[in-house]
Amino acid sequence: MKEIVVSGIRPTGYLHLGNYFGAVRNYVRMQEEYNCYFFVADWHSLTTHLDTSGLKASVHRVLAENIACGLDPDKVSLYVQSDVPEIAELYLYLNMLAYKGELEKTASFKDKVRMQPENVNAGLLTYPVLMAADILMHRAVKVPVGKDQEQHLEMTRNFAARFNSRYGEVLPLPQAFNYGSELVKIMGLDGLGKMSKSENVNATLYLEDEDEQIRKKIMKAKTDSGPAEPNSIKPDYIQNLFTLMQLVSSTDVVEKFEADFNNCSIRYGDMKKQLAEDMANFMKPIREKSLAIQNDKDYLLRIIRQGADKARASASETLQLVRKAVGVNYV
Ligand code: TRP
Repeated sequence: MKEIVVSGIRPTGYLHLGNYFGAVRNYVRMQEEYNCYFFVADWHSLTTHLDTSGLKASVHRVLAENIACGLDPDKVSLYVQSDVPEIAELYLYLNMLAYKGELEKTASFKDKVRMQPENVNAGLLTYPVLMAADILMHRAVKVPVGKDQEQHLEMTRNFAARFNSRYGEVLPLPQAFNYGSELVKIMGLDGLGKMSKSENVNATLYLEDEDEQIRKKIMKAKTDSGPAEPNSIKPDYIQNLFTLMQLVSSTDVVEKFEADFNNCSIRYGDMKKQLAEDMANFMKPIREKSLAIQNDKDYLLRIIRQGADKARASASETLQLVRKAVGVNYV
């Protein structure tokens, strides 16, 4: 019996290199060893994104991007959250175990109240409960998420523990999946923090960027006049270029520029040119595959249905146990 893994992907923003090396690549590795449920969190996006006119295209794109990166819908359950109504029912039961005070204290809630004071809706308040339902729905034990989601995971454990003590042992307590040394952090090309969806688009390499955009962005990446002394410590924006190079270039290329850096002969223009070519070559097949999938609606619909079937099979098993434990089974 393989361990069960659940993770949700927000259908907002385009996938970028930070997501790829920080998350998606790990999903791809996990699909061999775990029983994985990966889904597009479209209900969650309703808490913050009022305009749903682009939602369908976003959901299709997110699915296509993840498949293009190597997720195999035959190996994992890849589905859309709203296709699994069982999640909404579990969310309802868990809401009775979640206290207003703790929800109001959640960091992500406080952030969002600050960001959208005109729309502090109950869905926003209970975002962690919905996330708990996503995870507990499949009785997952491992959840690959970043640091920013750890509080939500702790709340998930609290809700599960309360459920178990009130109604009987049904729900295992999930842990954050720790990638350990595999975790690659990628900074934006402006050197101002992590490569992120919302910030400076010119500092972010999106999987759908064309070759020319990739070159332009990399050639504009922040550098300086070079090290003043042999074997200097690299400033973090330079280290970031080396990190990117290690991910997409051949080892002899990386070693050459490491040596140039260490003996102070490095020419960042040359390094960026090389990195731009290697990056464009790395990203091109992923981009092309993603676009091909987005244009193949028949394939997408088949994937969405297949994912929903797999996810619902697991969800309805859990829900039966939950209903029985809660006492809402009358026949
Ligand atoms: N809250 C997560 C995020 O913002 C997305 C998410 C929703 C999720 N449900 C989940 C992640 C369940 C892991 C498990 O990125």
